[in-house]
Amino acid sequence: MKYPEIVSSLTLEEKIRMVTGDGAWHTYTVDRLGVEGIMMTDGPIGLRKVDEASNKTYISVAFPSGCLTACSFDRELLRQMGDTIGKECQSYDVGMILGPAINIKRSPLCGRNFEYLSEDPYLTGELAASYINGVQSNNVGTSLKHYAANSQEYRRMSYDAKISERALREIYLAGFETAVKKSQPYTLMCSYNKINGTHASENKWLLTDVLRDEWGFEGAVISDWGAVNYRDRALKAGLDLEMPGNNIANKDFILKALADGSLTMAELDTAVDRVIDLSRKCSAGKKEVPFDFEKDHETAARIAEGSMVLLKNDGRILPLKKETKVALLGEFAVRPRIQGGGSAFINTYKVDSILECMQAYGNVEYTKGFEIDDDTVKEDLIEDALRLCASCDTAVVIAGLPDNYESEGYDRKHMHMPSNQLALISALAKAGIPTVIVLQNGAAVEMPWADDVSGILEAYLGGEAAGTAIANILYGKVNPSGKLAESVPFQLEDNPSFLNFPGNGYEVNYAEDIYVGYRYYDKKKMAVRYPFGYGLSYTTFEYSDLKTEAVEDPSNLIKVSLKVKNTGDVFGKEIVQLYVGDVSDKAGRADRPAKELKGFEKVSLEAGEEKTVEFLLDERAFSYYEEKIGGWMIPTAEYSIMVGSSSRDIRLEKTIYLDLGQSIPLHITQNTTFGELLRDERTRQYTIDNLMGKKASGILSFGIEAATAMMDHNPIRGLRNFSNEKPERVDEIIYELKQLSDDE
Ligand code: GLC
Repeated sequence: MKYPEIVSSLTLEEKIRMVTGDGAWHTYTVDRLGVEGIMMTDGPIGLRKVDEASNKTYISVAFPSGCLTACSFDRELLRQMGDTIGKECQSYDVGMILGPAINIKRSPLCGRNFEYLSEDPYLTGELAASYINGVQSNNVGTSLKHYAANSQEYRRMSYDAKISERALREIYLAGFETAVKKSQPYTLMCSYNKINGTHASENKWLLTDVLRDEWGFEGAVISDWGAVNYRDRALKAGLDLEMPGNNIANKDFILKALADGSLTMAELDTAVDRVIDLSRKCSAGKKEVPFDFEKDHETAARIAEGSMVLLKNDGRILPLKKETKVALLGEFAVRPRIQGGGSAFINTYKVDSILECMQAYGNVEYTKGFEIDDDTVKEDLIEDALRLCASCDTAVVIAGLPDNYESEGYDRKHMHMPSNQLALISALAKAGIPTVIVLQNGAAVEMPWADDVSGILEAYLGGEAAGTAIANILYGKVNPSGKLAESVPFQLEDNPSFLNFPGNGYEVNYAEDIYVGYRYYDKKKMAVRYPFGYGLSYTTFEYSDLKTEAVEDPSNLIKVSLKVKNTGDVFGKEIVQLYVGDVSDKAGRADRPAKELKGFEKVSLEAGEEKTVEFLLDERAFSYYEEKIGGWMIPTAEYSIMVGSSSRDIRLEKTIYLDLGQSIPLHITQNTTFGELLRDERTRQYTIDNLMGKKASGILSFGIEAATAMMDHNPIRGLRNFSNEKPERVDEIIYELKQLSDDE
């Protein structure tokens, strides 16, 4: 406890107030004890400060959404974004921003995928930590959300996520773990849903055992707005602050639980202490910082530029030349889609028109081609577009998803783009018009037209300066450097969660387990439209000289280095990705993904320049979560170290052998199989010498591997049925084997 004297001086009423929001956005103040309440606002792409009297939202700068910033694979860029938002908080006297939002993209349909970062937990955790460190470098707090497994909007306050512990640890919690360990967010925000039968808001395993006892989290846990089920249970589980307060509506739950002893005063005091600590940490950041809207708008443009993904550039249709006559099509060109709906929505300072930004460069004429608010195909609009194209060199279509296709509060039902957009793109293709598609969408869309166009720029939801970023990339002022943080399947049905999303509204079976996104597609060797980690540049890069070496330092195992060269004629940034895969025979062992992202570095290179890139791989880079031991382990195996330009463009590879002597304890019973005994070096020889001849004479003549496979399904108890061993001898054998396997 950090403030025992304050806590002990509070009345019970004051204590209950401290663990409950003061209205929708504040924590309580206790003047007489010097406890100053703080204001918190959404997040995560900018400041959504609500004036509670008028319910109006202050003007602020809308940065790019998580779906785009994750594609930067740029820790420094995310830190800068966090730092800028942290300073904006100071300008508006806000103590904490409610973000980042980092739930894993289990399905492309989740309505809030625009807010979230990736399908990969490593990328998610690294970038979340950077954003948090940026914000908190100003003594302004963050709220890492939504902890955990809020992977859909459908019945988000009710559904029960049925997830194996391994999938939780390796996929759905891993990003939170990295962010907690690398940035100590002032708070975590628990999610609405249940996890394996218990609401996240009262899930002690989640909020205390894992978060605090294992990961060392030091901050406060706040609820999502209205996520508390029973306030007393939540306090016991480790949920410190209920939001929003509603004049402490849940007071009676606390009083009753204190009276009947199911909640102790010490448990209440612990939560009070954490909220006081939160207030103190956030108040330390108070300072007069002018809100420089123009400067932050420029920063938003740089972040968008460093994140957008060039998916296709046939015939180098891009960058456009100033003299290129461009037909700019699609109503998004003048009404850009720059952010998602719901609590993340920002009252923007100003939104750049894509048309105006492009006209600043060259000869650009606009016609609608399709409307945003009406999906029906309008032939007259298409004819206007074709007419304009007839006198132009290139068509640029600003396409994507209208606001109502995706939002907090509901999920998509499909991955299609509006039919009027598809009709326009098809007409352009039929007319043989060289076409570039720019996408403004919050989540992956099906692209049946991808082979019919020459260029594709995935701009996602690029914030209020998206127009500037798009124009600067299309005309080559900026060389695009983003890579996809989510796989783009050919069709929704290919996605591993398809058969189990969004569930029946009560239970959601995460049946795909750890095989989320590229982990699934790669394991199945399934073709995808665009793979995780994919993105083009206006230049090219060459990888060489991959080296690996063991390192002695306590926290790392392997150092990896390689050279990357810019072999083109313009400056560019390359995101070098490092994947690890256990390539040994998995017989008798847990199955594992073909590859998992365990490192990335974004390297800037002038034309012709070459740099060395280095990675340090710790134990976790090779580990998987073994439920039998309730912990992480590295099986003795061969591991492939893969470095590449995308998950499907591995340029260099080296295989290393790791033996850290870690194994799963062999618990010997009469149902232990001969296969298990033969695969375990402690029992193999005994089994060969004493059992093989008895059970299946001559089977060893097939060789140990075949014998193991053939005997794999035979339990020891089979000796009673198929050998001339006395029954009591079987018990002796089990005892002797237990001695060998040190299984008490
Ligand atoms: C919402 C969202 C959460 C947000 C909070 C406050 O329901 O789930 O992300 O921070 O409430 O608006």
